[in-house]
Amino acid sequence: MGKIILTGDRPTGRLHVGHYVGSLKRRVELQNSGEFEKIFIMIADAQALTDNADNPEKVRQNIIEVALDYLSCGLDPSKSNILIQSQISELCELSFYYMNLVTVSRLQRNPTVKSEIQMRNFEASIPVGFFTYPISQAADITAFKATTVPVGDDQLPMIEQTREIVRKFNTVYGEALVEPEALLPDNKACMRLPGTDGKAKMSKSLGNCIYLSDSADDVKKKVMSMYTDPNHIQVSDPGQIEGNSVFTYLDAFCKDEHFERYCPDYSCLQEMKDHYSRGGLGDVKVKKFLNNVMQEELEPIRNRRKELEKDIPAIYEILKKGTETAREEAAKTLAEVKQNMKINYFDDVDLINEQSRKYNN
Ligand code: TRP
Repeated sequence: MGKIILTGDRPTGRLHVGHYVGSLKRRVELQNSGEFEKIFIMIADAQALTDNADNPEKVRQNIIEVALDYLSCGLDPSKSNILIQSQISELCELSFYYMNLVTVSRLQRNPTVKSEIQMRNFEASIPVGFFTYPISQAADITAFKATTVPVGDDQLPMIEQTREIVRKFNTVYGEALVEPEALLPDNKACMRLPGTDGKAKMSKSLGNCIYLSDSADDVKKKVMSMYTDPNHIQVSDPGQIEGNSVFTYLDAFCKDEHFERYCPDYSCLQEMKDHYSRGGLGDVKVKKFLNNVMQEELEPIRNRRKELEKDIPAIYEILKKGTETAREEAAKTLAEVKQNMKINYFDDVDLINEQSRKYNN
């Protein structure tokens, strides 16, 4: 059986460079590797609504932003189906049956849900839909029989929960579902790129993101005002690499060849880091280098986006096609699930005969 990818994002904003190094770039590589039989990339609008119930317009507006970001990074609709979650009602049906296989206490123990509840101040009143979104995410993954789910490490508890649901389902009702595996970013800096202010997470509300759609000027401004080592005051002072966002970004973005082009004083990042730690290397020089490196990577993405933005109806058409293809897959899985659960009454000739015998013998 071929390998199948499913992954996705909540459409609550434009995608930023953290999304790019943490997942988008990898998805494009996986897409082009030819190793996967099918690829599904989900714009998880229904999941976004679980914590944005009072702001559906935000979700609605951001679907196109995420789609544009996907396509401008190189996701190719002839190889990857890009789909909108809410348009596949089979996912709701699957979730409904999976709910019987998960306990409340198991959901309460899910570390991602726990921390999100805290972040959103939901402690006192958690929306049921939000609380149960790991179950709906299990439906997202299993509906397409995904073998491989490329995600950041924050999503590992979701994959684990999905695997438990799959095992439980297959044991109780017979094999129908596939146990997926997470595929994590291979570069540690890419696991979670910090904000430009040095905070652990990039978030729109903190204003510490560099977006894929930012102009060259904005990227430069953001890079030049990035958080470094607050104790590195004079150029001659020894500087700290650990926790220094500029170096974390370089870990994520820079390749040796960039030094030849933009900073020939060094041959690789380690040399630059050593100089910074010793003292004698100023923040501005490092930031200018980072800016060049990032511009080189982001410029083609920005240019593709500009082109794509010229024909928005075509983007919706791509989403519609991707969703239709995905829906056929989900419908097949749902039919198998219902068959295994024996809730396919009208197709079940044996059942009808059995009941008939019971009453007519
Ligand atoms: N929970 C993911 C996020 O917040 C988005 C998502 C929804 C997803 N369904 C998925 C990711 C299925 C992987 C697989 O980014």
